[in-house]
Amino acid sequence: MARIGFLGTGEIASALLRALQGQGHSFLISPRNAAVAAALAELPEVRIAPNERVVEGSDIVFLCLLARVAEDVLPGLPFRQGQSVISVMVDAPLAMLRRLCAPATDIAITIPLPPIVDGGCPLPVYPPSPVLEALFGARNPVLAVPDEEALQAHLGVSALCSPILDQLQAAAGWLAGFTGDPAGAEAHVAAMIRCYLPARAQGGELAEALRKLSTEGGLNATLRAAMAPAKADLIRGLDSFRPRLGLTRGTGDPE
Ligand SMILES: NC(=O)c1ccc[n+]([C@@H]2O[C@H](COP(=O)([O-])OP(=O)(O)OC[C@H]3O[C@@H](n4cnc5c(N)ncnc54)[C@H](OP(=O)(O)O)[C@@H]3O)[C@@H](O)[C@H]2O)c1
Repeated sequence: MARIGFLGTGEIASALLRALQGQGHSFLISPRNAAVAAALAELPEVRIAPNERVVEGSDIVFLCLLARVAEDVLPGLPFRQGQSVISVMVDAPLAMLRRLCAPATDIAITIPLPPIVDGGCPLPVYPPSPVLEALFGARNPVLAVPDEEALQAHLGVSALCSPILDQLQAAAGWLAGFTGDPAGAEAHVAAMIRCYLPARAQGGELAEALRKLSTEGGLNATLRAAMAPAKADLIRGLDSFRPRLGLTRGTGDPE
């Protein structure tokens, strides 16, 4: 069981901690954000402490700050060799973390999402982190990626949820326009998508699910053809992240 510290106590720190609670770990959290920290401190295994004490008293430290704040907060904290540091911060590259968290060297970056509380959350990580795997791997797919640019591309694709949910909401609204039952429409659309998504897709399962929905002249194939331009829009939108995420390779080809 580990002593786990969180620097930054906002939305994602709260989700990570709640995903780990009740498994024998103890937690030190920084007093900020005060309301979130107070709510977490009601858990028996959580204590609030100053940032220095969080770092000093933890085997594993999660960095859950905004990157611009990290530049001010991390220097001078008592990181040490043998300690594991896991950053979830966007815009905080590995070179910056190595500088700010020296002499700690076991530093990894991952991209959790708030639904990690319930498990099933993808956790792309670079460099590979046995610590992250041990903490979350039983309930969440930990995806080791080959380099930092690949991790940045994973970050880009994590923006996909919002436009997809937007489309689902539009379809549910269209359905409710006929049924007069918005709740039933939402229930149908959400359950339908959930039941078509393979539980673990890693060997072409998405393509296989799509193949089964490709009867020529069928409603599925017809709607997909009508929406074909949206696929190019999606890739264009993802490609627009290139400068921001420092992505230099890849073709941007939808196929
Ligand atoms: N939310 C997500 O879905 C998500 C997903 C993946 C990655 N991330 C990344 O995770 C990081 C945190 O995101 P978030 O959404 O959790 O943001 P957030 O809710 O704003 O949390 C940031 C936390 O940092 C705290 N903080 C500010 N100054 C501090 C200091 N000097 N010492 C200690 N803590 C300090 C804030 O406290 P105060 O409120 O008191 O200022 C707050 O608790 C960001 O880098 C973000 O890119 C977020």
